[in-house]
Amino acid sequence: MTVPTTIAVDTTPIHADGAASDLDPLWRSIVTESRARSNDIHLPISFAFAERLCDAYPEADALVVRVAILLHDTGWARVDENRILDEGFSGDWRKADVRFEHERHGCEIAREVLPGLGYDDAFIERVTRIIDGHDTRPESYSIEDSLVRDADRLWRFTPTGIALASGWFKLTPAEYTARLRAEIVPELLTEAAVAMALADLERSEALLKTELLS
Ligand SMILES: [Fe+2]
Ligand SMILES: [Fe+2]
Repeated sequence: MTVPTTIAVDTTPIHADGAASDLDPLWRSIVTESRARSNDIHLPISFAFAERLCDAYPEADALVVRVAILLHDTGWARVDENRILDEGFSGDWRKADVRFEHERHGCEIAREVLPGLGYDDAFIERVTRIIDGHDTRPESYSIEDSLVRDADRLWRFTPTGIALASGWFKLTPAEYTARLRAEIVPELLTEAAVAMALADLERSEALLKTELLS
């Protein structure tokens, strides 16, 4: 199923060309934080979706979106690893304390790494406003916030995201893709993200044979 969209959306499999980019120094500054909770997989894939969403919504400040998605989950590195899985992915996981803690620590890390790379206070404030509450604040307050929120969800629709997140939630791939369709697609905020999610979900379900293995 493909959804008709009123804007130009690239829904081909997500990729990056490996060329040097303006944010390479920022990536290098968070290598330690990338080792927590598979951030070294989650952050680059979500980042690629964020760049694609910025192409679809040129009115958004792309640098704010790209820096915010790059840093948004670095705070997991300062939360106890056992608590992440015990509290962050079961029960009422959306309201778990660790969710608030990782947002707060993510803002700290942004304030630690960004000034030395030449970002000014006003820019850092815009980035931390998005990081603070990205998982726990019910409302998005700007187009940049919405694109970060959607990119943070879109990686889950790839086979890689399904592989990691189904394990975190202790679900089979078929159960997890059903949850994506029922719960996560309706949470997406932009038309472009819905088109990307459904294109990836269709590819992933076929690849993983979820109909046969359910
Ligand atoms: Fe998060
Ligand atoms: Fe995330």
